[in-house]
Amino acid sequence: MPENGADTTNTVTCSAPVNIAVIKYWGKRDEELILPINSSLSVTLHQDQLKTTTSVCTSRLFEADRIWLNGKEEDINHPRLQSCLREIRRLARKRHSDEDSAALVHKVHICSVNNFPTAAGLASSAAGFACLVFALARALGVEGELTGVARQGSGSACRSLHGGFVQWIMGQRDDGKDSLAQQVAPESHWPQLRVLVLVASADRKPVGSTSGMQTSVQTSSLLKHRADRVVPGRMVAMMDAVSRRDFAAFAELTMKDSNQFHATCMDTFPPIFYLSQVSQRIISLVHRYNSYSRETRVAYTFDAGPNAVIFTLQQHVDEFAALVQHFFPPETNGGHFIQGLPVQPAAVSEDLKQSLGLEPMSRGLSYIISTKPGPGPRVVDDPTQCLLGSDGLPRQTA
Ligand code: PMV
Repeated sequence: MPENGADTTNTVTCSAPVNIAVIKYWGKRDEELILPINSSLSVTLHQDQLKTTTSVCTSRLFEADRIWLNGKEEDINHPRLQSCLREIRRLARKRHSDEDSAALVHKVHICSVNNFPTAAGLASSAAGFACLVFALARALGVEGELTGVARQGSGSACRSLHGGFVQWIMGQRDDGKDSLAQQVAPESHWPQLRVLVLVASADRKPVGSTSGMQTSVQTSSLLKHRADRVVPGRMVAMMDAVSRRDFAAFAELTMKDSNQFHATCMDTFPPIFYLSQVSQRIISLVHRYNSYSRETRVAYTFDAGPNAVIFTLQQHVDEFAALVQHFFPPETNGGHFIQGLPVQPAAVSEDLKQSLGLEPMSRGLSYIISTKPGPGPRVVDDPTQCLLGSDGLPRQTA
C-alpha cells in the first residue's frame, strides 16, 4: 500500500435487508446461473434490526480485488463472489463504453458487516450478496435492474433488493434473463404486520442450502410435485392475500408452505432435518394459541435451520411474546431476551397457559428479535459509517 494511502474518493457505503420467504425457494434447474425450479415470495425485514452494511472502494493504487467479511479477510476467488463482480463489471463496461473507462479496470476493496450475530444462523447470505451487488453497482456507475446479478450470488439475495413484499419469478429462459425479483407491495402496504425472529439455541451446523437443494432435486419426487403442481397456485393465492391484507389467508399459506418445504427435506434421500425440538414446540404453540383464540393470530415459517420467524399483527404481539417467554423461559430472566422494536409486558391468563398444554422448556431460545417489514437497500451517506479507511483497508472500528 503506498504511503500516502489510496485515492478513496470512489468509495460508497450501502446497506441491505434480510428477507424471509413465505413461499419457499428450494431447488435449482441451473446451478451455474442459479435458476430455481419454482417461483417464491418473501417479506423484507426492517434494516433497523437486521441488515448488512458494505463499503466498496475502487482505486488505481489497489493491486488486487480484496474482501473482508465481519472483520476477517475472505477469499475473493469464491465462485459466486466472482460471478457478481464479473457481471457488474460487464454491465459497467457496457454502460460506459464511450467514456474514459480507467475506473473500470481498477481493483476493488470490499468490506462488509452484519448488525446481527452471524452465529445466530440467520440467513445472512441474502442480505450480504444483495448489499455487495447494490454497492458495487453504485461504485461502478451501473443503474437499473440488478436482481439478475444478485441471484447469481445467492438465489434468495435477489429478493433482498426490494423492500416490502417481493416475488422472485422463476422465469423460463435457459439464459436466466427472465428470472428476476419484483416488488409485489411496499412495506407501507401492511403497517399492522409484525415479525418476531425466535433465535433457537442451535447445537449443530445444518446441511447448507446449496448441497441440500441438490440432493432434494435428485431424490425427492415430492419436491417435483411441489414445484410443478403446488407452488404456482400458492403464488397467486399469496399475492391475493397480501393485496387484501388478509392475515388468516396469509398465515395459513405461510405455515403450509413452510411445512411442505420441510416435508420435501424429509422426502430427500438421505433425509435432511432442519427443525429441532424447539422448532416443533413453537409449531405446537402457534397452532394451539390460534385455536384457543378461535382465529388465526400467528403464523410461523422456518428456513434451513431451527429458528422460527413469526408473523402476527400489532394487536397480538405483546401477548404472543409473553407466551413465548413463559414457555421458553430465558436463562437470565429476560434482560435482553427481546431485542428490537418495543414489546410491552403482557399478562397471560392461567386459563390460556393451562389450555395450551405445553411444558416450559428452558434454554430453548437464545433471544427474540422484534421487527417488521422494511425497505430495500439504500446508500449510506454518513461518512462515519464507511467501513474502509483512507488507506482503503478496513477501519479499526469496523
Ligand atoms: O438462497 P439460498 O441458497 O440461501 O437458499 C434459500 C433457501 C430458503 O431460505 C430455505 C428458502 C428461501 O426461499 O429463502
